[in-house]
Amino acid sequence: MQAKSKLALLIMLIALMLMAGASVFSLAAKRNVKPHQLMILFTGDDLGTNKSCGCHSTGDYGGIPRRANLLKKLRDAGNDILLLDVGDAVNGAGEYADIKARFFAAAFPYLKYDVCGVGEMEARYMKEFGTSTPFTNAITTISANVYDIATSKLLAPATYTIKETKNGLKVGVISVLSEALVDQYMQEKIGIKAKPVREALKQTLPEVRGKSDVVVLLFHGDLKTSRALAMEFPEIDIILDGHPTDPPLDKAEQIGNTILATTKSAGKYVGKIILDISADRKITKSAFESMPVDNTYPDDEEMVKLVAQNDKDLEDYYARMRTQYAQNSTDDRTQPRQPKPFVTVNKCRECHPAEFTAWSKTRHARSYNDLMKDSRASNPECVSCHTTGFKLQGGFTSIAETADLTQVQCEMCHGPGVIHSRRANKNYGAVSMNTCVQCHNRANSPRFDYATYRPKILHKPADPNAKPPSIGH
Ligand code: HEC
Ligand code: HEC
Ligand code: HEC
Ligand code: HEC
Repeated sequence: MQAKSKLALLIMLIALMLMAGASVFSLAAKRNVKPHQLMILFTGDDLGTNKSCGCHSTGDYGGIPRRANLLKKLRDAGNDILLLDVGDAVNGAGEYADIKARFFAAAFPYLKYDVCGVGEMEARYMKEFGTSTPFTNAITTISANVYDIATSKLLAPATYTIKETKNGLKVGVISVLSEALVDQYMQEKIGIKAKPVREALKQTLPEVRGKSDVVVLLFHGDLKTSRALAMEFPEIDIILDGHPTDPPLDKAEQIGNTILATTKSAGKYVGKIILDISADRKITKSAFESMPVDNTYPDDEEMVKLVAQNDKDLEDYYARMRTQYAQNSTDDRTQPRQPKPFVTVNKCRECHPAEFTAWSKTRHARSYNDLMKDSRASNPECVSCHTTGFKLQGGFTSIAETADLTQVQCEMCHGPGVIHSRRANKNYGAVSMNTCVQCHNRANSPRFDYATYRPKILHKPADPNAKPPSIGH
């Protein structure tokens, strides 16, 4: 090579190095920010819940119409906000999941979500419907490890994203799904799999760390793994854990330099982390709060309309399913000549008038009316516990078809009574705590306690002035 061209090459190389160096320096210099606070808000595990059920006055939290106003309030106060979802907004499979996904596809952009991670529900949906996001392209959907077994391609369009905040901070967000949640069924029947979480992080994290001031991991999986990841990957500043299998954390944990916080069930809370950011873009302080989405936040009108439309879609779907089921059924009991398994409270009343009177005074006897007040009397997600025999053979379907099976009647506790009503026998109708907790579950009846609830529904309540039972009656 000639001296001249050697020199030219050298000059070019130096110039290149200078350019590269300069860009690093200028990035650092230019990117000094004014010290400020960043508010990271996060949700997860909505599992298709669009509105709070109102089943318990003290735990009446959640719902998208309220969440919209909670977020609006925080935005109106001028906060610099990053809004994230940790996954499992969607629920179920097939057309049901599609109805749920359609709701969140409209709601999440309206609520101005910045990034959504992928839970096993989204993963399943994305594969089933051949889409790269359940939420439309208005929402950045990311996942670093769930892939389609047939094509070996990741389901989401990106493994991570970098969001620049109002104050010029670069926040890198990665989402991974616990491989334990993409089980054998998901692999064999749905055709998706998750790369080991640690492998995915080793591949993604260095790049994201290099480009970001703050790194957030959306981890959809158990708390134990979250804690381990915090130890093993100190480059992560914040881990937001969804799908908690353990009781969710009330406070954030500090593990080394990593902050760990969890979501709480069915969209009842919004997680809030406030970070104090210094001029050189470091986190100097953090505070966490789990905000209950309670009824102090009014319903957002747009979202109320969306919920109503979504509930209508769901009702139509169930109605179609019923017709289809009736047409295809080979089950003799669907034929009118066969006795129906449920005889209704009016039949029981004929022989048990005292029990009927007692039952009439309990809230079970007006449980359906409470739904009517709330105009959700035909919502399949509500009627299951507020009527008799929903989804069971010969049970409640709709007020038009089965008006006599509204309310929580005798047969919801004692079982279908057709045989007993024809030939009364003693061996019918044993009730245990298990009978109650099908409906009085943690979400809908948080204060349920068998010992205190049972006496309230007994048909022959103990008379406080009565003599001890040994005297007999
Ligand atoms: C898994 C069963 C279940 C489902 C599903 C369910 N509920 Fe309930 N609901 C209950 C139980 C149990 C109670 C009584 C709770 C208590 O007092 O401990 C209740 C109570 C209520 C009450 C009375 C609250 C009060 O204090 O007066 C309303 C209203 C209500 N539910 C509405 C709904 C709506 C609307 C839906 C659908 C979004 C729904 N429920 C879905 C089980 C359920
Ligand atoms: C034709 C009358 C008749 C009808 C209708 C009837 N029962 Fe009974 N039931 C009886 C008689 C009689 C006994 C007492 C049987 C005995 O002591 O041998 C009884 C007993 C019971 C018992 C107590 C069983 C026990 O362990 O002692 C329950 C619970 C019960 N009925 C619930 C119902 C319910 C719920 C309905 C409606 C689905 C119903 N019954 C309809 C006549 C009837
Ligand atoms: C089919 C679902 C269902 C079953 C089974 C059921 N409940 Fe309920 N229960 C409800 C619903 C729904 C309400 C709320 C009705 C309302 O106010 O709208 C309720 C309300 C109550 C209340 C009133 C709560 C209050 O604060 O006043 C008590 C007490 C109660 N149930 C006890 C029981 C017990 C005990 C059992 C089991 C032996 C039981 N329930 C089984 C659905 C059920
Ligand atoms: C919320 C659940 C629930 C509902 C609804 C209910 N029962 Fe009961 N019933 C019980 C429990 C609990 C007992 C007590 C015996 C036991 O623990 O098995 C009982 C006992 C009975 C007995 C035995 C005698 C007695 O009075 O203790 C009869 C008969 C009876 N029920 C009839 C009815 C009839 C008729 C209706 C509807 C009008 C009805 N029950 C609704 C829970 C229920």
